[in-house]
Amino acid sequence: MDILVIGSGGREHAILVGLRKSPRVGRLYALPGNGGMAGLATLVPIGVKELDRIVQFAKLVKVAFVVVGPDDPLVLGLVDMLEAEGIACFGPNRRAAIIEGSKIFSKGLMKRHGIPSAAYEAFSEVGQALSYAETCPLPAVVKADGLALGKGVVIATTREALVGAIRSMMVDRVFGTSGESIVIEEFLSGIEVSVLSFTDGKTLVPMLSSMDHKRAFDGDLGPNTGGMGVIAPNPYYSQEMEGLCMQTIFLPTLRAMQEEGRPFKGCLYFGLMLTSGGPKVIEYNCRFGDPELQAILPLLDSDLLSTMLAVSQGRLADIDVTFSQGASCCVVLASGGYPASYETGKAVTIGELGQGVTCLHAGTRLVPGGLVTNGGRVLNLVATADTLAEAVAKAYGAVGSVSFAGMHYRKDIGKLALEA
Ligand code: AMP
Ligand code: GLY
Repeated sequence: MDILVIGSGGREHAILVGLRKSPRVGRLYALPGNGGMAGLATLVPIGVKELDRIVQFAKLVKVAFVVVGPDDPLVLGLVDMLEAEGIACFGPNRRAAIIEGSKIFSKGLMKRHGIPSAAYEAFSEVGQALSYAETCPLPAVVKADGLALGKGVVIATTREALVGAIRSMMVDRVFGTSGESIVIEEFLSGIEVSVLSFTDGKTLVPMLSSMDHKRAFDGDLGPNTGGMGVIAPNPYYSQEMEGLCMQTIFLPTLRAMQEEGRPFKGCLYFGLMLTSGGPKVIEYNCRFGDPELQAILPLLDSDLLSTMLAVSQGRLADIDVTFSQGASCCVVLASGGYPASYETGKAVTIGELGQGVTCLHAGTRLVPGGLVTNGGRVLNLVATADTLAEAVAKAYGAVGSVSFAGMHYRKDIGKLALEA
């Protein structure tokens, strides 16, 4: 079976590695892919938002299955366009992807169906948002309604910061039309857990839990990024907690989407806060987390392709999805300056990594002289081991084997988890 994977990050590299293990996989294409994928897949130089060109290409090479990694093409309706041509996909259609594409939709969904989440108000007029900001409780969390590369959230601890965030989104339009409308919500405190799940719209199978590290610097300081590292499983997320989340969040969300005529197929990602008042949803994503997936997939025992096909064909209840014991750690090596501006084109060298460690590529590109940096998050070092402590030590043990000018990474991935 020939398969097209859409995306160019560490997540998509992990998907290609996972698919390659399946005996049923034939040719693999990565669109647009990156410098580390060249040995695994044919790279296709088309952008992930060029939907017409993607569909044309998929028809031309007659792929049987398309796996869509990033949020943008899902929210724009790539799956709808491919399915209209009879090409099966892993990923939700446009009506279902709105669960990530609009915070106002997802907050409304939770309110309508009694799913626990932070209290909020939605605004499409800046005057109303500013007058609410005069008296609302602090800290307050301001979120752009639409997609913003994981950067559309501001936690404001002062009135000035709150007003600044509202103005930058609604007046200065730093996130373009994504900030035309905003949500202002209650600040939740607690431990964060990411739970990715496979769902075909009727059955939902959670993957191993994980913990992302979203801030740029050690000690959870600095700006939000797409994610600087992950450990899995998350030791703060007990079996009991999983049962509670299943009953109060996961299944109610699945039913809510069905009832509203938006059945969800693909990976539904629950960003959760374990608060003193119980688990609450911080956000939904309509796709695998990046870098969460890089830490989770090495612990998946069952066949990735079979699971993706079962999701796409509505047969998830008929198959077993199993994970191994043990733990994993993914450390992101980023370009200096990320998530703000950074330089690209720096030479990358990768030496011996040690047993049980792999290097997945994100922002890299192959040029005639070799491998160079081509993005904010450049490489992911992923280690698996029997215990979390060993996995963390192995991942950090490999950092010295990799180099590029300006390399920045967090030194404390897994620290909070090891304190559990
Ligand atoms: P999001 O893009 O919605 O995942 O938000 C990015 C990060 O902001 C989350 O991972 C949390 O760390 C933080 N965050 C978002 N919403 C809240 C909230 N209501 N209370 C506290 N922290 C939040
Ligand atoms: N790592 C967070 C995300 O994928 O949204």
